[in-house]
Amino acid sequence: MADVTVAVIGGDGIGPEVTAQACKALRAGAERAGLTVDLLDVDVGARRYLATGEVLPDAVLEELRGVDAILLGAIGAPEVPPGVLERGLLLRLRFAFDQYVNLRPITLLPGVTSPVRDLEPSDCDLMVVRENTEGLYAGAGGTSHHGSPGETAVETSINTRHGIERVARFAADLAVRRAGRLTLCHKTNVLTHAGGLWHRITEAVASEAGLTLDYAHVDALCLHLVQDPGRFDVVVTDNLFGDIITDLGAAVQGGLGYAASGNLNPDGTAPSMFEPVHGSAPDIAGTGSASPVAAVLSVTLLLEHLGQPEAAAAVQRAAASVVPLLGPDQPSTEALGDRIAEAVATG
Ligand code: IPM
Ligand code: MN
Repeated sequence: MADVTVAVIGGDGIGPEVTAQACKALRAGAERAGLTVDLLDVDVGARRYLATGEVLPDAVLEELRGVDAILLGAIGAPEVPPGVLERGLLLRLRFAFDQYVNLRPITLLPGVTSPVRDLEPSDCDLMVVRENTEGLYAGAGGTSHHGSPGETAVETSINTRHGIERVARFAADLAVRRAGRLTLCHKTNVLTHAGGLWHRITEAVASEAGLTLDYAHVDALCLHLVQDPGRFDVVVTDNLFGDIITDLGAAVQGGLGYAASGNLNPDGTAPSMFEPVHGSAPDIAGTGSASPVAAVLSVTLLLEHLGQPEAAAAVQRAAASVVPLLGPDQPSTEALGDRIAEAVATG
């Protein structure tokens, strides 16, 4: 029996192409660590939905529950109405497996050009800890008077002490292991109910960890993230703010092609799931022009989560090593994947 089993959801569009390369990097990393890995292919996504109407059958959910980690490529196709796969697949997995941390590094790799002029890697190295099970994503709300002039939609943000406390604790622990700076991002000047709760709890958790909490309103944080990303180390925030600021962060780090993420269940009661932040990019699917770097960087997070920091660092170095090759005339997705896997093995 293998030491670890990783379920692989290649998904749609460029998902399967970049995920195949990420799997090579994972195998090479595991080999370095003396770990045997079983990869279990799981077929869900737009293709299955369009063919069978199934989004995430319960049997598949239970199969996934039994693995050590999940590697996901990208889900979605233009033919599928908005919300079907997002809610029925991605968010269902995040919620069902209590992946309450969405960890998103915003790191400018050496050699990558940021749209922020003269930005140096040393000034762009932060971690966003996005709450991943509550907020406006919880699905609380409803509509009434459909189609009439009085039609009304309510979307309610759910914020529990339990939910905030656990994500704040994760972020504080991470900050202690890094530069010791923790920033809460919210909008406490307007969202006084939820913002007040977030601020009180995060402040208490920070002080318990020996940290002084820094605070930024989400609008101001967007400004700072572009003008001076070096002021941030660990940023903790709610689900929707985290979704938005990490796309901005991805732009600052050179684009979605460098943005990795981990949906973590830090308590280990169910598997965590690792995915590049980019989508399925149907326009370039099958052309071999997608960069596998974000998927490979997600493998770094996966290996760290499995307690393999040395292998994770090797995969990180290997991903960084292909940066000079990227651009309009870059090698194919597969050729890049081969180079990365080779660099993991030898570097
Ligand atoms: C992300 C995505 C998802 C989110 C969508 C696809 C549901 O934008 O992972 O950032 O909003 O969380
Ligand atoms: Mn997003």
